[in-house]
Amino acid sequence: MKDMQTIVNLAKARGFVYQWSEIYWGLANAWDYGPLGSLLKENIKNLWIREFVQKRTDMTLLDAAILMNPSVWIASGHVGGFSDPLVDDKKTKERFRADKLLENLIDEKESELGSRDAVLTRFQWLYAINNLIPESWTFEQQGAVLIGEKVKNPNNNEEADWTEVKKFNLMFRTFQGVTEDSSATIYMRPETAQGIFVNFPNIVRSSRKKVPFWVAQVGKAFRNEITPGNFIFRTREFEQMEIEFFCEPESVAPGKHLEWHAAWKDACKKFLLETLSITESNLRFRDHEKDELSFYSAATTDIEYKFPFGWGELWGIADRTDHDLKAHMGESKQDLSYFDPYTNQKYLPYVIEPSVGLTRLFLATLLDAYDEIETEEGSRIVLRFHPRVAPIKVAVFPIVKKLAEQGRAIFDLLASDFQVEYDETGAVGKRYYRADEMGIPFSIVVDDEHYNAGSVTVRHRDSGEQEVVRIDELVEWVRARVR
Ligand code: GAP
Repeated sequence: MKDMQTIVNLAKARGFVYQWSEIYWGLANAWDYGPLGSLLKENIKNLWIREFVQKRTDMTLLDAAILMNPSVWIASGHVGGFSDPLVDDKKTKERFRADKLLENLIDEKESELGSRDAVLTRFQWLYAINNLIPESWTFEQQGAVLIGEKVKNPNNNEEADWTEVKKFNLMFRTFQGVTEDSSATIYMRPETAQGIFVNFPNIVRSSRKKVPFWVAQVGKAFRNEITPGNFIFRTREFEQMEIEFFCEPESVAPGKHLEWHAAWKDACKKFLLETLSITESNLRFRDHEKDELSFYSAATTDIEYKFPFGWGELWGIADRTDHDLKAHMGESKQDLSYFDPYTNQKYLPYVIEPSVGLTRLFLATLLDAYDEIETEEGSRIVLRFHPRVAPIKVAVFPIVKKLAEQGRAIFDLLASDFQVEYDETGAVGKRYYRADEMGIPFSIVVDDEHYNAGSVTVRHRDSGEQEVVRIDELVEWVRARVR
């Protein structure tokens, strides 16, 4: 069954993801990517770069530093406002995100009262709340609903004694250099995006790109999450793949940025469906309601994935207007505006930001590939990654050990171009099953008869069908299927 514990167990057994520092009993919610996991993550990242960077003429890639001047985070609003509403249960001293407790409460109330409208009417009447988006409520409103509705501690399902809701800044702080006072305080970046904004003038100058163009970046981000969890869905150290798409502002091309926002929704969907081969029914698009939007955002859409614990945000696509460049211009006192050589106009571009968590997308990809087959010996696991996504593309199995030399020759033939698994021990059927569980799409069996005739047999993971392929065509045969 595709529940989270099954995936965690498989991930560990097959070397996708291990618990971090396991020999020291681990560190809560920190994970390492094992031999298969690091390959899968690299493949997803490289496919994203291929689709959004390599195949475009209007893009550039950036790799900015994780530690930045603290003024960056003052300008971006992270020092002052990057916080979650935190609440403690005084009885157990456990901490929770108030907005997440309230989201669960709304779902429970919906089943109890029959509709979301009925929940809204109750909340309007009792707490003067006008929407069902707890994130947008004041801390006082969140606290009033938690206490008024007698929300239980989700860990023990017992009545809680909630503190008032407090602000908790999610930035990881550290010190630069030898002193540990406030003048040496710096932050681990909580998103990769700001590295793009502060480099905007450098990129325009050095790349000579013209608006509209975009900058893409992949890298680590750190957030001191109150309630990390659900395996690698929410962690304190994670990776993001972010794009800042600089386009014409409302004053130059009215409404154009909204058209770009819609186009980005389509581009992200196409990547998930066509490049990663994610199942469409496991995805949904959720446009933010007006009172959920940040004050500067003209439109925001979340692409959500149906995780075993419910729908969760995978990819956020935000129309951030000129908010970030304006904020950095104010803080740094540098002119960050763009001069359009075609129209001779000077302006601050608007920005569309499609931002996806690489590690969260890894989880969605792994879950989506997971399948179980019922056999006479019981059920067995097959990971049905698209060949272009699969961490290992081909397995090479000499049918018997004495054909190891021939098997090695096939491995050497393929290994310069693809990730190849080589295994010469055990029954071939068992080796096939192991390859299926690793998500390897093609298993090559080397036997005397075919090898001497210049060919090998390839078994397809998904259909179990076998095909004879000429050795001198093998590299191209695989290449055509893993593109
Ligand atoms: N620059 C915009 C930004 O960072 P976000 O919605 O906070 O927006 C973007 O994050 C994406 O990063 C999310 O959609 C999610 O996929 C991923 N993400 C955010 N926090 C995460 C965490 N604690 N663990 C894993 N992935 C996370």
